Amino acid sequence: MGVLKKQIAVLAGDGIGPEVCREAIKVLEAIGERFGHAFTFNHQLMGACAIEASGTPLPEHTLEACLEADAILMGAIGDPKYDNDPTAKVRPEQGLLRLRKSLGLFANIRPVTAYQVLLQHSPLKNDRIEGADMLFFRELTGGIYFGEKGRNADGSAYDHCTYSREEISRIAHLAFQSAEGRRHKLTLVDKANVLETSRLWREVVKEIAPAYPSVVVEYLFVDNAAMQLILNPRQFDVILTENMFGDILSDEASVIAGSLGLLPSASVGVHTALFEPIHGSYPQAAGKGIANPIATILSAAMLLEHFALKQEAELVREAVQHALDNKILTPELNSKAPYTTEQVGSFIACYVKEGAGPGRDTHNLELGCSTII
Ligand code: IPM
Ligand code: MG
Repeated sequence: MGVLKKQIAVLAGDGIGPEVCREAIKVLEAIGERFGHAFTFNHQLMGACAIEASGTPLPEHTLEACLEADAILMGAIGDPKYDNDPTAKVRPEQGLLRLRKSLGLFANIRPVTAYQVLLQHSPLKNDRIEGADMLFFRELTGGIYFGEKGRNADGSAYDHCTYSREEISRIAHLAFQSAEGRRHKLTLVDKANVLETSRLWREVVKEIAPAYPSVVVEYLFVDNAAMQLILNPRQFDVILTENMFGDILSDEASVIAGSLGLLPSASVGVHTALFEPIHGSYPQAAGKGIANPIATILSAAMLLEHFALKQEAELVREAVQHALDNKILTPELNSKAPYTTEQVGSFIACYVKEGAGPGRDTHNLELGCSTII
């Protein structure tokens, strides 16, 4: 792969978003330096910060910048001010939902891995989670998130859930293709014993399955899936599911990895792809240097893969593994000798630039393992 020039729109967002994005950008710059790629970063507002600045969570020029960019790196959005006010008319989340819809980002891909060195951090029994490695395909622009919603005259409220065959089949194909390159198993999670939309999901997936003969398909009701994830997570390879079930199950699955701060995601579809950690804006931690930047850094690795920079993406993952192995970790994963958000990011960026080596490892973090510290 030759030298690449790419423009990346950055939506750092709220809470810890800016700090974790800063570290992911540091790592992308290190990749640029090492491989000779030219990444430029175009920072834009979205979320509560955009509401503060302009009254709207997704300003027009932010959307335009995203449409023009080659990829989008996002931090997190959300603010307790809005969470605690059910009557708020404008919410940070509306910005993200509108962005996903406007860009046609129908597939949200969330890998969940039980890292061997972090097994003891999971509250789950280690022998249950060891070796777990799954990939969620969460539908992202349909279902109950985007159906008609409102209040009736009698004071009741409603959220409609609709799915078309096309909305189901386009993400199902992506999930099947991914399963072909993995362990050849796809689990459709639905609630087909109750919901009509779920029955349509089963119908469409059953029709598509014969085109992927090497993939074994299983069907699980979402309540059972929630239990199986904890009981026996190793049974899962690719999990395909609708918008809201995917939202809930992927947070649940993060317990397997040991920290929500480790899980990245990619949202792909019609226009510019977006890469973001699955965690929220964690406002209590903002500015304290305790937020784990690894989920955002791994999201940057998925961004590199999206640019077909496989070797570069692999190097970022190797650097993250190196940080895990050396316990260069934020307090939730290393309470005895924690490192700051910035130190974790710098350590990973340093490895990306220079590799591991004498004088450049753990103990030299403060002394300057390289010029980037
Ligand atoms: C996620 C988040 C969002 C979602 C919120 C912030 C709207 O929880 O990306 O998982 O529900 O999709
Ligand atoms: Mg969520």
